[in-house]
Amino acid sequence: MKSTKELLRFKRDGHHLTADDIHQFIDGVVSGTVSPAQVGAFCMASCVRGLDSEETAALTMSMTHSGKVLRRSDTGRRRIDKHSTGGVGDKVSLLLAPLASSCGIDVPMISGRGLGHTGGTLDKLESVPGFSIAMTEQEMDHCLTVNGLFMAGQTVDLVPADRILYAIRDVTGTVENIGLITASILSKKFAESLDGLVMDMKVGSAAFMQTLDQARTLAESMKSVCDSVGIPVRFVFTRMDEPLGYAVGNWLEIAEAEHALATSAERSLAEVTIELTAHMVHVAGLETTIEDSRRRVVRAWKNGSAHQQFHRMIAQQGGKWSDAVTMYAMQTPIVIESATSGWVDHIDARAVADAVQQAGGGRQREDDVIDPSAGVVFHCERGSEVAAGDPLVSVYARDAARRDELAAAMRSIIQTKTAPVERKPSMIIEVW
Ligand code: URA
Repeated sequence: MKSTKELLRFKRDGHHLTADDIHQFIDGVVSGTVSPAQVGAFCMASCVRGLDSEETAALTMSMTHSGKVLRRSDTGRRRIDKHSTGGVGDKVSLLLAPLASSCGIDVPMISGRGLGHTGGTLDKLESVPGFSIAMTEQEMDHCLTVNGLFMAGQTVDLVPADRILYAIRDVTGTVENIGLITASILSKKFAESLDGLVMDMKVGSAAFMQTLDQARTLAESMKSVCDSVGIPVRFVFTRMDEPLGYAVGNWLEIAEAEHALATSAERSLAEVTIELTAHMVHVAGLETTIEDSRRRVVRAWKNGSAHQQFHRMIAQQGGKWSDAVTMYAMQTPIVIESATSGWVDHIDARAVADAVQQAGGGRQREDDVIDPSAGVVFHCERGSEVAAGDPLVSVYARDAARRDELAAAMRSIIQTKTAPVERKPSMIIEVW
């Protein structure tokens, strides 16, 4: 057995660590015998030297078992989750989890908060008064058994190694490494005791992976780990250059998701949601073809069962939906109108996310309190033809000065052209 110092020197010099080395290291991280400085050194050496596929798999499994994993009660249903690499206006989980569970899948969705410029499902859920994202493992198990789904934050007992590593990676410039990202994401998913996983690999100017090549490299790394432990995984590569759906902002996005389940969704949001949920149905083996899986999802959407399931989940986790609707209805937006007639140009999702974050919709620092009402609702999209005076976007924020600043930012973000602009293409780039 190597001492921690030897193990770090070994990795620093570019040697391959065995599964035992990594297991011993992660054990020490969680028990506290490995210091934060040593964790930082490990992450930096991993970034500089890289982690090969065996090291990545060993790190993922050691992290998965660094704490508890969710119990498997016999519900008779397959347990599948979806994970997105993060986007702007990405409220897909809020539609997909009720849809997938209406289709007969158990969805144990342990989500995160906003990361960088991207929004987080937990922040969206917490905009509903009373909704609790802090669940014990027993409560998670109960919700899955009774309702087939829950949406919650990580507990202190699940994957403690990731919490420690992630905090140190964040301040040592070691987030951007394929092996570390793979282990971080997959360990949290594997701790849900899944039968299968669907990954939404966002690609574009507002995604962490800006090029298809980068997203494919991450997918290859994740696929290799999933294959090594026999967990079926599907990768859906989707565009992330413009906001998904018509709302960006915590409450506005959950309100959009609820309304979409009750009626229908904006075209690109519907496309991404149906595709990802259909792959969950397919991976679960509930349908033999992806076309039949899509049809099953659309049925659950149209017959209202997913909408009911959404409200069951909100109520089961303490959320007071009608209170939320009443409370947020009191906010008055600034409505920005088009100054001229023309066609709406490309809407830069990254710029929108930054502006909404500045207005209080996201955090600049970990301990910032966010304004759940802050955000924007678009009345147009790229390629929409507008006349002078047509509404382009409604801007919300509790604080009047911040609302004015957000409105000013949106005025410069939404531009019109005098010639027609191409509409948004299909959101799906490829599927593995
Ligand atoms: N999301 C995670 O959970 N971990 C990473 O390392 C990157 C994104």
